Amino acid sequence: MDNFVIHGGRTVNGEVKISGSKNAALPILAATMLTRDKCEIKNIPELMDIKSAFELLNYLGKKCFFGFNTFTVHEASALKHHAPYDLVRKMRASMLVAGPLLARYKKVRFSLPGGCIIGVRPIDIHLEAFKKLGAEVSYEKGDVIMTAARLKPARVKFRFPSVGATENLMMCASLIKGITTLENCAREPEISDLARALRKMGAGVEGEGSSVIKISGVKMLKGLKYEVMPDRIETGTFMLAAAAAGGALKLTNTNIALVEPLARALTRAGVRVFGEKNTITVISSGARPKPVDIITEPHPGFPTDLQAPWMAFMARAKGVCEVNEEIFENRFMHAAELMRMGADITVLERKAVIRGVERLLGAPVMASDIRAGAALIVAAAAAKGMTVIRRVYHIDRGYQKIEDKLRLAGVKITRVKA
Ligand code: UD1
Repeated sequence: MDNFVIHGGRTVNGEVKISGSKNAALPILAATMLTRDKCEIKNIPELMDIKSAFELLNYLGKKCFFGFNTFTVHEASALKHHAPYDLVRKMRASMLVAGPLLARYKKVRFSLPGGCIIGVRPIDIHLEAFKKLGAEVSYEKGDVIMTAARLKPARVKFRFPSVGATENLMMCASLIKGITTLENCAREPEISDLARALRKMGAGVEGEGSSVIKISGVKMLKGLKYEVMPDRIETGTFMLAAAAAGGALKLTNTNIALVEPLARALTRAGVRVFGEKNTITVISSGARPKPVDIITEPHPGFPTDLQAPWMAFMARAKGVCEVNEEIFENRFMHAAELMRMGADITVLERKAVIRGVERLLGAPVMASDIRAGAALIVAAAAAKGMTVIRRVYHIDRGYQKIEDKLRLAGVKITRVKA
Protein backbone atom coordinates (compact mmCIF):
# COMPACT_ATOMS: atom_id res chain seq x y z
CA MET A 1 0.00 0.00 0.00
CA ASP A 2 1.33 3.44 -0.92
CA ASN A 3 1.38 6.63 1.13
CA PHE A 4 1.72 10.23 -0.02
CA VAL A 5 4.14 12.45 1.85
CA ILE A 6 3.39 16.14 1.30
CA HIS A 7 5.42 19.07 2.63
CA GLY A 8 2.86 21.87 2.52
CA GLY A 9 2.91 25.62 2.51
CA ARG A 10 4.27 26.20 -1.02
CA THR A 11 2.23 27.97 -3.67
CA VAL A 12 0.59 26.00 -6.50
CA ASN A 13 1.67 27.46 -9.84
CA GLY A 14 2.14 26.67 -13.50
CA GLU A 15 0.10 24.56 -15.87
CA VAL A 16 -1.65 21.22 -15.40
CA LYS A 17 -3.35 19.18 -18.12
CA ILE A 18 -6.69 17.75 -17.04
CA SER A 19 -7.41 14.10 -17.93
CA GLY A 20 -10.53 12.62 -19.45
CA SER A 21 -13.52 12.16 -17.19
CA LYS A 22 -13.69 8.94 -15.20
CA ASN A 23 -17.43 9.29 -14.67
CA ALA A 24 -18.05 9.86 -18.38
CA ALA A 25 -15.66 7.09 -19.45
CA LEU A 26 -17.25 4.35 -17.32
CA PRO A 27 -20.77 4.48 -18.84
CA ILE A 28 -19.37 4.94 -22.35
CA LEU A 29 -17.21 1.84 -21.89
CA ALA A 30 -20.33 -0.02 -20.72
CA ALA A 31 -22.14 1.24 -23.83
CA THR A 32 -19.62 -0.61 -26.03
CA MET A 33 -21.59 -3.73 -25.04
CA LEU A 34 -24.49 -2.43 -27.14
CA THR A 35 -22.61 -3.23 -30.35
CA ARG A 36 -20.67 -6.11 -31.88
CA ASP A 37 -18.56 -3.61 -33.83
CA LYS A 38 -15.21 -2.19 -32.85
CA CYS A 39 -15.17 0.85 -30.56
CA GLU A 40 -12.27 3.22 -30.04
CA ILE A 41 -12.61 5.64 -27.14
CA LYS A 42 -9.98 8.32 -26.60
CA ASN A 43 -9.08 10.53 -23.62
CA ILE A 44 -9.71 7.68 -21.19
CA PRO A 45 -7.85 8.35 -17.92
CA GLU A 46 -5.38 5.76 -16.62
CA LEU A 47 -6.99 4.88 -13.30
CA MET A 48 -7.82 1.93 -11.09
CA ASP A 49 -11.54 2.28 -11.86
CA ILE A 50 -10.81 2.08 -15.59
CA LYS A 51 -8.68 -1.02 -14.93
CA SER A 52 -11.69 -2.51 -13.10
CA ALA A 53 -13.90 -1.74 -16.12
CA PHE A 54 -11.27 -3.30 -18.41
CA GLU A 55 -11.26 -6.51 -16.33
CA LEU A 56 -15.04 -6.66 -16.22
CA LEU A 57 -15.49 -6.14 -19.99
CA ASN A 58 -12.79 -8.74 -20.72
CA TYR A 59 -14.43 -11.19 -18.34
CA LEU A 60 -17.78 -10.71 -20.05
CA GLY A 61 -16.21 -11.60 -23.40
CA LYS A 62 -15.11 -8.31 -24.94
CA LYS A 63 -11.50 -8.02 -26.11
CA CYS A 64 -10.09 -4.79 -24.72
CA PHE A 65 -6.83 -2.97 -25.35
CA PHE A 66 -5.82 0.09 -23.39
CA GLY A 67 -2.81 2.30 -23.80
CA PHE A 68 -1.94 5.97 -24.37
CA ASN A 69 -5.38 6.93 -23.04
CA THR A 70 -7.14 5.06 -25.86
CA PHE A 71 -9.43 2.16 -25.09
CA THR A 72 -10.26 -0.23 -27.94
CA VAL A 73 -13.01 -2.82 -27.62
CA HIS A 74 -13.74 -5.75 -29.98
CA GLU A 75 -16.24 -8.56 -29.75
CA ALA A 76 -15.26 -12.02 -30.93
CA SER A 77 -18.01 -14.22 -29.48
CA ALA A 78 -21.27 -14.11 -27.49
CA LEU A 79 -20.97 -12.34 -24.15
CA LYS A 80 -21.47 -13.79 -20.69
CA HIS A 81 -24.31 -12.18 -18.80
CA HIS A 82 -23.01 -12.64 -15.28
CA ALA A 83 -20.97 -9.89 -13.58
CA PRO A 84 -19.50 -11.68 -10.53
CA TYR A 85 -18.84 -10.32 -7.05
CA ASP A 86 -15.04 -10.20 -7.33
CA LEU A 87 -15.25 -7.80 -10.26
CA VAL A 88 -18.27 -5.74 -9.16
CA ARG A 89 -17.35 -5.19 -5.50
CA LYS A 90 -14.45 -2.88 -6.39
CA MET A 91 -16.60 -0.31 -8.11
CA ARG A 92 -20.27 0.59 -8.01
CA ALA A 93 -20.21 1.73 -11.64
CA SER A 94 -19.79 -1.95 -12.62
CA MET A 95 -23.54 -2.25 -12.49
CA LEU A 96 -23.69 -0.07 -15.61
CA VAL A 97 -23.21 -3.29 -17.61
CA ALA A 98 -26.68 -4.41 -16.42
CA GLY A 99 -28.62 -2.17 -18.84
CA PRO A 100 -26.65 -3.14 -21.96
CA LEU A 101 -26.63 -6.89 -21.12
CA LEU A 102 -30.34 -6.94 -20.32
CA ALA A 103 -31.04 -5.16 -23.60
CA ARG A 104 -28.95 -7.58 -25.66
CA TYR A 105 -29.66 -10.93 -24.01
CA LYS A 106 -32.91 -10.33 -22.07
CA LYS A 107 -31.14 -11.69 -19.02
CA VAL A 108 -28.39 -10.50 -16.73
CA ARG A 109 -27.06 -11.52 -13.35
CA PHE A 110 -24.87 -9.22 -11.32
CA SER A 111 -23.57 -9.02 -7.82
CA LEU A 112 -24.82 -6.16 -5.65
CA PRO A 113 -22.20 -3.44 -6.21
CA GLY A 114 -19.45 -2.11 -3.94
CA GLY A 115 -17.35 1.04 -4.34
CA CYS A 116 -16.79 3.96 -1.97
CA ILE A 117 -18.21 3.65 1.54
CA ILE A 118 -20.22 6.87 1.39
CA GLY A 119 -23.61 5.72 2.47
CA VAL A 120 -25.97 2.85 1.78
CA ARG A 121 -26.16 3.48 -1.97
CA PRO A 122 -29.06 1.18 -2.90
CA ILE A 123 -29.97 0.30 -6.51
CA ASP A 124 -33.76 0.43 -6.19
CA ILE A 125 -34.11 3.30 -8.68
CA HIS A 126 -32.34 1.23 -11.36
CA LEU A 127 -34.40 -1.89 -10.64
CA GLU A 128 -37.78 -0.11 -10.52
CA ALA A 129 -37.04 1.44 -13.90
CA PHE A 130 -35.92 -1.86 -15.48
CA LYS A 131 -39.19 -3.39 -14.27
CA LYS A 132 -41.10 -0.69 -16.17
CA LEU A 133 -39.29 -1.84 -19.33
CA GLY A 134 -40.55 -5.39 -18.74
CA ALA A 135 -37.78 -6.96 -16.64
CA GLU A 136 -38.52 -9.39 -13.84
CA VAL A 137 -36.18 -9.01 -10.90
CA SER A 138 -35.16 -11.76 -8.48
CA TYR A 139 -32.31 -12.31 -6.03
CA GLU A 140 -30.04 -15.30 -5.47
CA LYS A 141 -26.94 -15.61 -3.26
CA GLY A 142 -26.23 -11.87 -3.18
CA ASP A 143 -26.84 -11.51 -6.93
CA VAL A 144 -29.59 -9.64 -8.72
CA ILE A 145 -31.09 -11.52 -11.67
CA MET A 146 -33.11 -9.71 -14.32
CA THR A 147 -34.92 -11.50 -17.12
CA ALA A 148 -37.45 -10.40 -19.71
CA ALA A 149 -39.36 -12.33 -22.35
CA ARG A 150 -39.55 -9.07 -24.27
CA LEU A 151 -38.49 -5.55 -23.35
CA LYS A 152 -40.92 -2.78 -24.20
CA PRO A 153 -40.56 0.99 -24.45
CA ALA A 154 -42.14 2.82 -21.52
CA ARG A 155 -42.51 6.10 -19.66
CA VAL A 156 -40.26 5.91 -16.57
CA LYS A 157 -40.17 8.51 -13.83
CA PHE A 158 -37.20 8.23 -11.47
CA ARG A 159 -38.02 9.02 -7.81
CA PHE A 160 -34.63 10.83 -7.63
CA PRO A 161 -32.38 11.98 -10.50
CA SER A 162 -29.83 9.18 -10.06
CA VAL A 163 -26.84 9.53 -12.38
CA GLY A 164 -26.21 5.78 -12.68
CA ALA A 165 -29.89 4.88 -13.14
CA THR A 166 -30.32 7.51 -15.86
CA GLU A 167 -27.27 6.11 -17.69
CA ASN A 168 -28.27 2.47 -17.25
CA LEU A 169 -31.76 3.12 -18.59
CA MET A 170 -30.55 5.25 -21.51
CA MET A 171 -28.31 2.37 -22.60
CA CYS A 172 -30.97 -0.29 -22.18
CA ALA A 173 -33.62 1.74 -24.02
CA SER A 174 -31.21 2.27 -26.95
CA LEU A 175 -31.88 -1.35 -28.01
CA ILE A 176 -35.65 -1.32 -27.38
CA LYS A 177 -37.66 -0.54 -30.49
CA GLY A 178 -40.00 2.40 -29.91
CA ILE A 179 -39.72 5.52 -27.77
CA THR A 180 -38.83 5.33 -24.09
CA THR A 181 -39.33 8.51 -22.09
CA LEU A 182 -37.22 8.98 -18.95
CA GLU A 183 -38.45 11.64 -16.51
CA ASN A 184 -36.71 13.31 -13.56
CA CYS A 185 -33.39 12.37 -15.16
CA ALA A 186 -29.99 13.39 -13.83
CA ARG A 187 -28.66 16.37 -15.80
CA GLU A 188 -24.93 15.94 -15.14
CA PRO A 189 -22.58 16.73 -18.06
CA GLU A 190 -21.50 13.05 -18.08
CA ILE A 191 -25.09 12.13 -19.05
CA SER A 192 -24.78 14.43 -22.06
CA ASP A 193 -21.47 12.81 -22.99
CA LEU A 194 -23.13 9.38 -22.94
CA ALA A 195 -26.05 10.72 -25.01
CA ARG A 196 -23.62 12.02 -27.66
CA ALA A 197 -21.86 8.64 -27.76
CA LEU A 198 -25.14 6.69 -28.06
CA ARG A 199 -26.28 8.99 -30.88
CA LYS A 200 -23.00 8.33 -32.73
CA MET A 201 -23.72 4.61 -32.33
CA GLY A 202 -27.11 5.05 -34.01
CA ALA A 203 -29.61 5.42 -31.15
CA GLY A 204 -32.10 8.28 -31.16
CA VAL A 205 -31.48 10.27 -27.99
CA GLU A 206 -32.82 13.72 -27.24
CA GLY A 207 -33.31 15.94 -24.22
CA GLU A 208 -30.07 15.18 -22.34
CA GLY A 209 -29.13 18.01 -19.99
CA SER A 210 -32.85 18.47 -19.21
CA SER A 211 -34.91 16.30 -16.88
CA VAL A 212 -36.73 14.49 -19.71
CA ILE A 213 -34.77 12.25 -22.07
CA LYS A 214 -36.40 10.45 -24.98
CA ILE A 215 -34.72 7.43 -26.47
CA SER A 216 -35.71 5.93 -29.74
CA GLY A 217 -34.21 2.44 -29.72
CA VAL A 218 -32.87 0.42 -32.65
CA LYS A 219 -32.15 -3.30 -33.20
CA MET A 220 -28.38 -3.02 -32.81
CA LEU A 221 -25.95 -0.13 -32.39
CA LYS A 222 -22.91 0.53 -34.57
CA GLY A 223 -19.27 0.85 -33.56
CA LEU A 224 -18.04 4.07 -31.95
CA LYS A 225 -15.11 6.43 -32.30
CA TYR A 226 -15.30 8.96 -29.50
CA GLU A 227 -13.31 11.22 -27.21
CA VAL A 228 -14.63 11.58 -23.66
CA MET A 229 -15.11 14.96 -22.01
CA PRO A 230 -12.62 16.45 -19.50
CA ASP A 231 -12.88 15.45 -15.85
CA ARG A 232 -14.73 18.22 -14.07
CA ILE A 233 -14.01 16.78 -10.61
CA GLU A 234 -10.26 16.60 -11.25
CA THR A 235 -10.52 20.15 -12.60
CA GLY A 236 -12.28 21.31 -9.43
CA THR A 237 -9.82 19.52 -7.16
CA PHE A 238 -6.86 21.34 -8.75
CA MET A 239 -8.74 24.65 -8.62
CA LEU A 240 -9.23 24.12 -4.90
CA ALA A 241 -5.60 23.12 -4.31
CA ALA A 242 -4.48 26.42 -5.87
CA ALA A 243 -7.18 28.36 -4.02
CA ALA A 244 -6.17 26.87 -0.65
CA ALA A 245 -2.39 27.01 -1.00
CA GLY A 246 -2.25 30.22 -3.05
CA GLY A 247 -0.66 30.69 -6.45
CA ALA A 248 -1.59 31.07 -10.10
CA LEU A 249 -2.56 27.79 -11.73
CA LYS A 250 -3.62 27.28 -15.33
CA LEU A 251 -5.61 24.15 -16.15
CA THR A 252 -5.69 23.03 -19.77
CA ASN A 253 -7.94 20.55 -21.65
CA THR A 254 -10.91 21.52 -19.55
CA ASN A 255 -13.77 23.98 -19.61
CA ILE A 256 -15.16 26.55 -17.18
CA ALA A 257 -18.73 25.60 -18.13
CA LEU A 258 -18.16 22.25 -16.39
CA VAL A 259 -17.33 23.80 -13.01
CA GLU A 260 -19.64 26.82 -12.82
CA PRO A 261 -21.03 26.18 -9.31
CA LEU A 262 -17.48 25.84 -7.94
CA ALA A 263 -16.21 28.88 -9.87
CA ARG A 264 -19.06 30.96 -8.39
CA ALA A 265 -18.35 29.76 -4.85
CA LEU A 266 -14.61 30.40 -5.25
CA THR A 267 -15.26 33.92 -6.51
CA ARG A 268 -17.45 34.62 -3.47
CA ALA A 269 -14.63 33.33 -1.26
CA GLY A 270 -12.25 35.89 -2.80
CA VAL A 271 -10.41 33.74 -5.35
CA ARG A 272 -10.04 34.91 -8.95
CA VAL A 273 -11.18 32.43 -11.59
CA PHE A 274 -10.91 33.02 -15.35
CA GLY A 275 -12.22 30.74 -18.07
CA GLU A 276 -11.02 30.91 -21.65
CA LYS A 277 -11.36 28.44 -24.47
CA ASN A 278 -10.42 25.07 -22.94
CA THR A 279 -8.42 26.60 -20.09
CA ILE A 280 -9.16 27.80 -16.58
CA THR A 281 -6.86 30.01 -14.52
CA VAL A 282 -7.14 30.29 -10.75
CA ILE A 283 -5.32 33.07 -8.91
CA SER A 284 -5.27 33.05 -5.14
CA SER A 285 -3.25 35.01 -2.59
CA GLY A 286 -3.38 32.05 -0.23
CA ALA A 287 -4.89 34.33 2.43
CA ARG A 288 -7.77 33.03 4.52
CA PRO A 289 -10.89 32.88 2.29
CA LYS A 290 -14.24 34.47 3.07
CA PRO A 291 -16.63 31.88 4.53
CA VAL A 292 -19.09 30.58 1.91
CA ASP A 293 -21.90 28.11 2.58
CA ILE A 294 -22.57 25.37 0.06
CA ILE A 295 -25.28 22.77 -0.45
CA THR A 296 -24.54 19.76 -2.62
CA GLU A 297 -27.31 19.07 -5.11
CA PRO A 298 -27.88 17.24 -8.37
CA HIS A 299 -26.42 19.13 -11.36
CA PRO A 300 -26.48 22.10 -11.93
CA GLY A 301 -26.03 22.42 -8.15
CA PHE A 302 -22.72 22.17 -6.30
CA PRO A 303 -21.37 18.64 -6.98
CA THR A 304 -21.14 16.25 -4.05
CA ASP A 305 -17.82 15.01 -5.44
CA LEU A 306 -16.25 18.42 -4.69
CA GLN A 307 -17.77 18.74 -1.23
CA ALA A 308 -14.80 17.20 0.59
CA PRO A 309 -12.08 19.25 -1.17
CA TRP A 310 -14.25 22.35 -0.68
CA MET A 311 -14.38 21.66 3.05
CA ALA A 312 -10.58 21.42 3.11
CA PHE A 313 -10.43 24.87 1.49
CA MET A 314 -13.00 26.35 3.89
CA ALA A 315 -11.11 24.95 6.92
CA ARG A 316 -9.10 28.19 6.92
CA ALA A 317 -12.09 30.52 6.27
CA LYS A 318 -12.16 33.82 8.09
CA GLY A 319 -15.38 33.02 9.93
CA VAL A 320 -17.99 30.27 10.15
CA CYS A 321 -19.66 28.46 7.26
CA GLU A 322 -21.78 25.41 6.55
CA VAL A 323 -21.59 22.50 4.17
CA ASN A 324 -24.86 20.67 3.58
CA GLU A 325 -24.59 17.27 1.95
CA GLU A 326 -27.89 16.49 0.21
CA ILE A 327 -26.80 13.59 -2.03
CA PHE A 328 -25.13 11.02 0.23
CA GLU A 329 -26.06 10.36 3.85
CA ASN A 330 -22.57 9.48 5.06
CA ARG A 331 -20.11 11.67 3.24
CA PHE A 332 -18.26 13.51 6.01
CA MET A 333 -15.57 10.98 6.81
CA HIS A 334 -12.90 13.50 5.77
CA ALA A 335 -14.03 15.91 8.52
CA ALA A 336 -12.37 13.85 11.27
CA GLU A 337 -9.13 13.66 9.26
CA LEU A 338 -9.17 17.43 8.59
CA MET A 339 -9.61 17.94 12.33
CA ARG A 340 -6.39 15.97 12.87
CA MET A 341 -4.78 18.74 10.83
CA GLY A 342 -6.21 21.43 13.10
CA ALA A 343 -9.58 22.14 11.43
CA ASP A 344 -12.56 22.98 13.64
CA ILE A 345 -15.58 21.13 12.23
CA THR A 346 -18.80 19.92 13.84
CA VAL A 347 -20.81 17.33 11.92
CA LEU A 348 -24.57 17.25 12.54
CA GLU A 349 -26.01 14.46 10.38
CA ARG A 350 -26.00 15.94 6.85
CA LYS A 351 -24.61 19.33 7.88
CA ALA A 352 -21.04 20.27 8.78
CA VAL A 353 -20.28 23.56 10.53
CA ILE A 354 -16.77 24.81 9.86
CA ARG A 355 -15.16 27.41 12.09
CA GLY A 356 -12.20 28.58 10.04
CA VAL A 357 -8.76 28.37 11.67
CA GLU A 358 -5.67 30.48 11.06
CA ARG A 359 -3.67 27.56 9.69
CA LEU A 360 -3.71 23.83 9.11
CA LEU A 361 -0.82 21.73 10.37
CA GLY A 362 0.57 18.62 8.70
CA ALA A 363 -0.38 15.30 10.33
CA PRO A 364 -0.69 11.59 9.56
CA VAL A 365 -4.15 11.09 7.98
CA MET A 366 -6.08 8.46 6.07
CA ALA A 367 -8.14 8.60 2.85
CA SER A 368 -11.53 6.89 3.26
CA ASP A 369 -12.79 7.34 -0.31
CA ILE A 370 -11.68 9.00 -3.55
CA ARG A 371 -12.86 12.52 -2.81
CA ALA A 372 -12.01 12.40 0.90
CA GLY A 373 -8.49 11.61 -0.31
CA ALA A 374 -8.60 14.61 -2.63
CA ALA A 375 -9.63 16.78 0.32
CA LEU A 376 -6.58 15.65 2.27
CA ILE A 377 -4.34 16.58 -0.66
CA VAL A 378 -5.88 20.07 -0.80
CA ALA A 379 -5.45 20.48 2.96
CA ALA A 380 -1.90 19.10 2.94
CA ALA A 381 -0.82 21.45 0.13
CA ALA A 382 -1.97 24.44 2.21
CA ALA A 383 -0.84 23.14 5.62
CA LYS A 384 2.35 23.97 7.43
CA GLY A 385 4.66 20.98 7.76
CA MET A 386 4.49 17.37 6.66
CA THR A 387 1.33 15.36 6.02
CA VAL A 388 1.37 11.61 5.40
CA ILE A 389 -1.75 10.38 3.60
CA ARG A 390 -2.46 6.67 3.95
CA ARG A 391 -4.71 4.49 1.77
CA VAL A 392 -3.70 6.29 -1.40
CA TYR A 393 -5.37 3.49 -3.40
CA HIS A 394 -8.65 5.35 -2.93
CA ILE A 395 -7.15 8.42 -4.62
CA ASP A 396 -5.69 6.25 -7.41
CA ARG A 397 -9.22 5.11 -8.28
CA GLY A 398 -10.09 8.58 -9.52
CA TYR A 399 -7.01 10.73 -10.24
CA GLN A 400 -4.52 9.97 -13.00
CA LYS A 401 -0.90 10.46 -11.90
CA ILE A 402 -1.96 13.04 -9.35
CA GLU A 403 1.46 13.27 -7.72
CA ASP A 404 3.17 14.01 -11.06
CA LYS A 405 0.65 16.74 -11.83
CA LEU A 406 0.95 18.27 -8.35
CA ARG A 407 4.74 18.15 -8.49
CA LEU A 408 4.61 19.97 -11.81
CA ALA A 409 2.57 22.66 -10.05
CA GLY A 410 5.18 23.06 -7.31
CA VAL A 411 3.72 20.82 -4.59
CA LYS A 412 6.37 18.87 -2.68
CA ILE A 413 4.83 15.39 -2.84
CA THR A 414 6.30 11.89 -2.93
CA ARG A 415 4.72 8.46 -3.13
CA VAL A 416 6.30 6.02 -0.73
CA LYS A 417 5.70 2.32 -0.16
CA ALA A 418 4.24 1.78 3.31
C1 UD1 B 1 -22.43 9.02 -9.67
C2 UD1 B 1 -20.95 9.30 -9.70
C3 UD1 B 1 -20.44 9.72 -8.33
C4 UD1 B 1 -21.27 10.90 -7.81
C5 UD1 B 1 -22.75 10.59 -7.89
C6 UD1 B 1 -23.63 11.79 -7.53
C7 UD1 B 1 -20.16 7.79 -11.41
C8 UD1 B 1 -19.37 6.57 -11.76
N1 UD1 B 1 -20.25 8.09 -10.11
O1 UD1 B 1 -22.64 7.93 -8.77
O2 UD1 B 1 -19.07 10.09 -8.45
O3 UD1 B 1 -20.93 11.15 -6.48
O4 UD1 B 1 -23.12 10.19 -9.22
O5 UD1 B 1 -23.35 12.87 -8.36
O6 UD1 B 1 -20.64 8.49 -12.28
N2 UD1 B 1 -29.68 6.15 -4.97
C9 UD1 B 1 -30.71 5.35 -4.50
N3 UD1 B 1 -31.14 4.31 -5.26
C10 UD1 B 1 -30.59 4.03 -6.49
C11 UD1 B 1 -29.55 4.86 -6.97
C12 UD1 B 1 -29.11 5.91 -6.18
O7 UD1 B 1 -31.22 5.58 -3.40
O8 UD1 B 1 -31.03 3.09 -7.15
C13 UD1 B 1 -29.20 7.26 -4.14
C14 UD1 B 1 -27.74 7.06 -3.72
O9 UD1 B 1 -27.66 6.25 -2.57
C15 UD1 B 1 -27.29 8.48 -3.49
C16 UD1 B 1 -28.08 9.27 -4.54
O10 UD1 B 1 -29.18 8.45 -4.91
O11 UD1 B 1 -27.66 8.90 -2.21
C17 UD1 B 1 -27.26 9.63 -5.78
O12 UD1 B 1 -26.79 8.46 -6.39
P1 UD1 B 1 -26.48 8.38 -7.95
O13 UD1 B 1 -26.81 9.67 -8.61
O14 UD1 B 1 -27.11 7.12 -8.48
O15 UD1 B 1 -24.91 8.19 -7.93
P2 UD1 B 1 -24.02 7.17 -8.74
O16 UD1 B 1 -24.54 7.02 -10.13
O17 UD1 B 1 -23.79 5.96 -7.93
